[in-house]
Amino acid sequence: MVSKITVKAPSSTANLGPGFDVFGLAIDAFYDEITLTKIKKGITIVTDDNVPTNPENNTAGLVVKNMKDKFKIKDGIEIKIKKGVPAGFGMGSSAASAAATAVAFDKLFRLNLDGNSLVEFAGYGEKASAGSVHYDNVAASVLGGFVIVKTTPLDVIRIEPPTNLRMCIAVPELVVPKKKTKVSRGVIPKKIKLTDSILNLSNAAAIVAGFMKKDSDIIGNSIKDVIVEPARQHMIPGFSKVKQNAIKAGALGVTISGAGPSVIAFAKSSSNLKKICLEMSKGFASANTKCKTIICKPSKGSADKRK
Ligand code: HSE
Repeated sequence: MVSKITVKAPSSTANLGPGFDVFGLAIDAFYDEITLTKIKKGITIVTDDNVPTNPENNTAGLVVKNMKDKFKIKDGIEIKIKKGVPAGFGMGSSAASAAATAVAFDKLFRLNLDGNSLVEFAGYGEKASAGSVHYDNVAASVLGGFVIVKTTPLDVIRIEPPTNLRMCIAVPELVVPKKKTKVSRGVIPKKIKLTDSILNLSNAAAIVAGFMKKDSDIIGNSIKDVIVEPARQHMIPGFSKVKQNAIKAGALGVTISGAGPSVIAFAKSSSNLKKICLEMSKGFASANTKCKTIICKPSKGSADKRK
């Protein structure tokens, strides 16, 4: 009988501009690794990383607690967490831990859950960091590729991205607030103009068409958000310059990665990706901010059996 299992889950970028809380894309920049081991009782967290070790406040702990209750599992569980995704930078760090945990739990207890259920269980983990459940990052981390999240009832649609799609991500060296996602959700307007909603909807629809047609130009050219990005950009020093520089260097579209503060540029494998990264760094430097840059591509998910 299996008593121990290890699962890796990728980082992800949420929103892709106009798809706030709806779009997610798994990216191969970083991975979290979770090992679940059956023990006599309780839930214990083992980690060398700077994450809460009280299961009630820990993403993976919340997922295990909820799944244990739901499936009436008596065994205790030790959760070993190896963080690869930097926390608090808009790269789906909590979601990666939650996604790996839900998939590991499913395998350990042979539950055979479908994709939507895995995403739903992983979503509980997001409560620990965002204060509310949103499924865009976890859906990408669990299923891989590009995802569209429909809610009430939860239904995730996955689309395989074009093979030439590339992303340049600039991660600024900033001190982020402890509950960053909660803070950056607090600045979004509660009411929006119909004309803004129409603009965002048209771009979101075009992004979906771009993924369906495997056309990175359509995807990149439609990464335009007139609702959430303008409300959040003041939290990212040099954002306008970073964006402008990346576009000048050949990026197709640029936006905030998830709740930020990382900035993500969409491009193609044939673009000058190093130049885009360099120009993004210069943009941050203009606001006296250092950053790390990463060139990455879409990833498979933690439950993705495809090679
Ligand atoms: N859609 C979420 C947000 C993602 O932008 O707040 C957070 O990672």
